[in-house]
Amino acid sequence: MDLSGKAAVVTGSGRGLGLAYAEALALAGASVVVNDVDAAAAGAAVEKITAGGGRAVSVVAPVGGAATADALVDKAVSEFGRLDVMVTNAGVLRDKVLWKMSDEDFDTVVDVHLRGTFTCARAAAVRMREQGTGGRLILVSSPAGQRGNFGQTNYAAAKAGVVAMARTWAMELARTDITVNAVVPVAATGMTKTIPALAPFIEEAERTGEPLPDWLRRDEGFGTPEDAAPLVVFLASDAARGVTGQAIGIGGDRLALWSHPQEKAAAYAAGGWDADTIAERWSTGPGAEPETYGIPAPSVPAAHGPEAGS
Ligand SMILES: NC(=O)c1ccc[n+]([C@@H]2O[C@H](COP(=O)([O-])OP(=O)(O)OC[C@H]3O[C@@H](n4cnc5c(N)ncnc54)[C@H](O)[C@@H]3O)[C@@H](O)[C@H]2O)c1
Repeated sequence: MDLSGKAAVVTGSGRGLGLAYAEALALAGASVVVNDVDAAAAGAAVEKITAGGGRAVSVVAPVGGAATADALVDKAVSEFGRLDVMVTNAGVLRDKVLWKMSDEDFDTVVDVHLRGTFTCARAAAVRMREQGTGGRLILVSSPAGQRGNFGQTNYAAAKAGVVAMARTWAMELARTDITVNAVVPVAATGMTKTIPALAPFIEEAERTGEPLPDWLRRDEGFGTPEDAAPLVVFLASDAARGVTGQAIGIGGDRLALWSHPQEKAAAYAAGGWDADTIAERWSTGPGAEPETYGIPAPSVPAAHGPEAGS
């Protein structure tokens, strides 16, 4: 996959998935603007990429408002002369159940994930439309945004909104050959290391340097950040020209297409419905097969569970 001549921005790329995306894009030949709020992490990422023969510069600034979005696009243009790919990866968590979640917890997460995706994509789209040579907006969602997740009101709402924006922008930017997709990654990073069912396996892999177990990679689609990066490289490339408006899962050994919501069952009452008729017909009509919700808990095979012989 050859991305030489292309310039990319990857937000939140000082560590975790963003770092893996930035490294993989640079390895494929793209010039990369690394961004993070953590100056040391951003600096180390640039050093790592340039030591490997890649081209990278950094912008240390918080994604959220328009000023950072403009600074990121300006940096790509001033350093590399253009912008072809915007990856909106920066993210934070502030998990709490609904009744304990503060306005600040809500606003912080919505600001980085939802507003940050909006402002960065908007600044990129303006530049890409001026260039007139197409482009790639690669957004980042999450299984939590597709399914809902306990304790993640703010995050699930923001990540669902990201997919809704991808579908909207895919329509709006189709004529200018700018594709817009949402990646739905799963990987062992600072963000996911604390999932209780998975933590022991991640810690073991880190301690021994061995890969994560096959069942985890395949059945749970859970691997390393490097496992998710090839999807971003593909979406950034000319090979993905026709791919737009999609939510695409990647993790461990699994690559997946998420379905888009659509009406699943419908019933009709001539002249409209009243509440009594809905109550009468709900459980045999549209509500006969209610949808499930939430991310299923990881299922650790018995052979690997806490009871397995030590
Ligand atoms: N790890 C997973 O399994 C997983 C699953 C689904 C979605 N995601 C999403 O992938 C993205 C990366 O997650 P990760 O697991 O690598 O997380 P991470 O915590 O390892 O890395 C996130 C990086 O973003 C930076 N950051 C935070 N706020 C920022 C801001 N306002 N501006 C710029 N940088 C900021 C952090 O300093 C950090 O370096 C996030 O959007 C996350 O929601 C991750």
